[in-house]
Amino acid sequence: MKIRNPLYRRLFLLLAAAGCASPLFGGALTNPETEKRIDSLLERMTLQEKVGQLVQYSDVFNTGPAADNDRNRRRNERIRTGQIGSLLNVTGAQATRETQKLAVEGSRLRIPLIFGLDVIHGYKTSFPIPLAEAASFDMETVALSARIAAIEAAAAGIHWTFAPMVDIARDARWGRIMEGAGEDPYLGAQVAAARVRGFQGNDLAAVDTIAACAKHYAAYGFAEGGRDYNTVDVSEHTLRNVVLPPFKAASEAGVVTFMNAFNEIGGVPATASAFLQRTILKGEWGFEGFIVSDWNSIGELVQHGVAKDGREAARLAITAGSDMDMESSVYDRHLVELAESGAVDKRLIDDAVRRVLRVKFRLGLFDDPYRYSNDERERRALADPAHSEAAREVARQSIVLLRNEGGLLPLGKTGGILAVIGPLADDTDTPKGNWRGRAATDPAVSLLEGIRAAVGSDVKVRHAAGARLDVIDRGFFRQVRFDEEDRSGFPAAIEAARDADAVILAIGETAFQTGEAQSQVEISLQPIHVDLLREVHAVNRNVVLVLMNGRPLVIGEIAETVPAIVEAWHLGAQAGHAIADVLFGDYNPSGKLPVSFPRHVGQEPLYYNAKNTGRPGPQESFYSYYTDCPNTPLYPFGFGLSYTTFEYSDLKLSRQEIGPDDELRVTVTVANTGQRTGVEVAQLYIRDLVGSVTRPVKELKGFQKVELAPGEAKAIAFTVTSKDLAFYTAAGRWEAEPGAFDVYVGGNSDDLQKAEFTLR
Ligand code: BGC
Repeated sequence: MKIRNPLYRRLFLLLAAAGCASPLFGGALTNPETEKRIDSLLERMTLQEKVGQLVQYSDVFNTGPAADNDRNRRRNERIRTGQIGSLLNVTGAQATRETQKLAVEGSRLRIPLIFGLDVIHGYKTSFPIPLAEAASFDMETVALSARIAAIEAAAAGIHWTFAPMVDIARDARWGRIMEGAGEDPYLGAQVAAARVRGFQGNDLAAVDTIAACAKHYAAYGFAEGGRDYNTVDVSEHTLRNVVLPPFKAASEAGVVTFMNAFNEIGGVPATASAFLQRTILKGEWGFEGFIVSDWNSIGELVQHGVAKDGREAARLAITAGSDMDMESSVYDRHLVELAESGAVDKRLIDDAVRRVLRVKFRLGLFDDPYRYSNDERERRALADPAHSEAAREVARQSIVLLRNEGGLLPLGKTGGILAVIGPLADDTDTPKGNWRGRAATDPAVSLLEGIRAAVGSDVKVRHAAGARLDVIDRGFFRQVRFDEEDRSGFPAAIEAARDADAVILAIGETAFQTGEAQSQVEISLQPIHVDLLREVHAVNRNVVLVLMNGRPLVIGEIAETVPAIVEAWHLGAQAGHAIADVLFGDYNPSGKLPVSFPRHVGQEPLYYNAKNTGRPGPQESFYSYYTDCPNTPLYPFGFGLSYTTFEYSDLKLSRQEIGPDDELRVTVTVANTGQRTGVEVAQLYIRDLVGSVTRPVKELKGFQKVELAPGEAKAIAFTVTSKDLAFYTAAGRWEAEPGAFDVYVGGNSDDLQKAEFTLR
């Protein structure tokens, strides 16, 4: 692995040490010795104890509808009698050790519990939200953040994270778009594999790696209208070509668990889908780990209307291949009876238990069930300054520069006055985003703090929020919300801005405006913030807009009026420092959008790899368009500026025609035509011109980061093989079809050099 940034060296030793740099998780999940030990356990287990392994409950802390309190009171007793195999949301070395003790010292067969938690973008050290990290287009970076999250979580007794979320998301209304890698299956697959490597390393039994979980299987991101939990109706064509590639990549990277999904697909809830779970995942892909349901998704088969009661729901889910029941209690209540009555084949239960036990063995829990719960390691890991250093580096790489008219950025650090404005400017909560691991109450570095630290006393920094944030305290989910009415802060903000050399204005979305159950029909900036921006801009043109958000936003006319726009997402604990690094040019931004930004919410779902349609236009009328908005996005997939400029030239192919086993070399020269050293993400796309089924107008098939000094030019090469051209064909096979292809290379999905070749 090439280490670009010297700052990184020490951190990458962490990656290398765990084998996260290697392409594949070491070895298959099964081995004869473990299978024998599992056989012997299965022989000794009662049916009740077997079912216990398939039951998962949450601790008192809930991430879904309220749990049953009586159940919590009885929890300890039930662990001691082998009726619970896993818990989620129990955290900390001490708590996990004490709870584990109930299982291994109290229960008859001493089978350890597996503790799971949503470690989505950090455990204690908060990293950028996953959508932001995907903007780095840097798989070392993505793996590093997962690696550090694993080190911290494992030290606190966690064995298993419910991540990565690898759902392709094409609709910005869907709140959970923040949790994944955006709209593209190729980028999504790379990120999925990188995160799995980061969490799992190549030795799951190491005390600083944790089991990963590819979720939500499948097509959860395709909810109609972008409304969370809503119906999904995708064809097998879309499923195989768009939805599944990141799941498959996670599976190939050795992920040991999958989570199924809340949604139905074409009339079959994913949790009850034998096609998804048995035919594809456990059959075609040979997955040997286990599938956990989503929170209560087995019980919800009743609400879906495919099961008349919990008993029927349990029967459907186990038959379809859902191995572990998160929270719905229906396995707990009904599986023993279902198996005894013959309504469920006992072999299905044995298979599910075997899968769960395999992962427990692989984690080393049978050798030492307390190995992860170490107070000293927990104390050290959670306070390691290298983790904050990494969080800052990952955050800088995730920032996308969207506009920089007249070179307003970077700002100078000596002399002058800066006005720092906006409700998010001094907010230490929002940058942490949704899903916070155990960083809930730790403040992030605010933008204002980051700016002050960067400029010291050389620049006069004035702060005026302009608009307010209200703090709402909902227990663990401490959060803030915009005040949409109060304009009393406007005059002070305008005064602060009037004679400043530049204004930095931070608006966007608060942390919990995106995430689970946070779908919106409106994805524009708040009207009160747009007014604040307009009034400030009227007295001072030098406005740098800093956007903090978890989904693409509609920013309207601002895109043309404000000279500089920085996409700063929800960047985690070090957000303020990372943004300041970019604002003052200590870091030259290189992030690229992993998702298209619409002009209008009505364009959603909006994605670059769309189909041509029979009437692509443009023509006078009767083509596929809106009468009141262009088809194009405001900012395309893959877009992002730098403080320098890059030019692409000399696109060349090693040959005009390739056979199925040949390699095509695609070379292009990238030149730095500006004044600063910068990093460009060169992207390669293809178009299959004629297929047995319709093909997208463009598909990403490769990207490379290249660093160039001013005036420097480098030839970079991509290799394309028939594997890159394969798709799910009309014949129901994953293969490339002969014919003509376009190949494109450039700095974003819209601005590309083109060449052509043929596959024989
Ligand atoms: C979410 C999952 C999460 C689970 C456990 C569910 O509501 O959909 O992504 O892992 O809760 O917290």
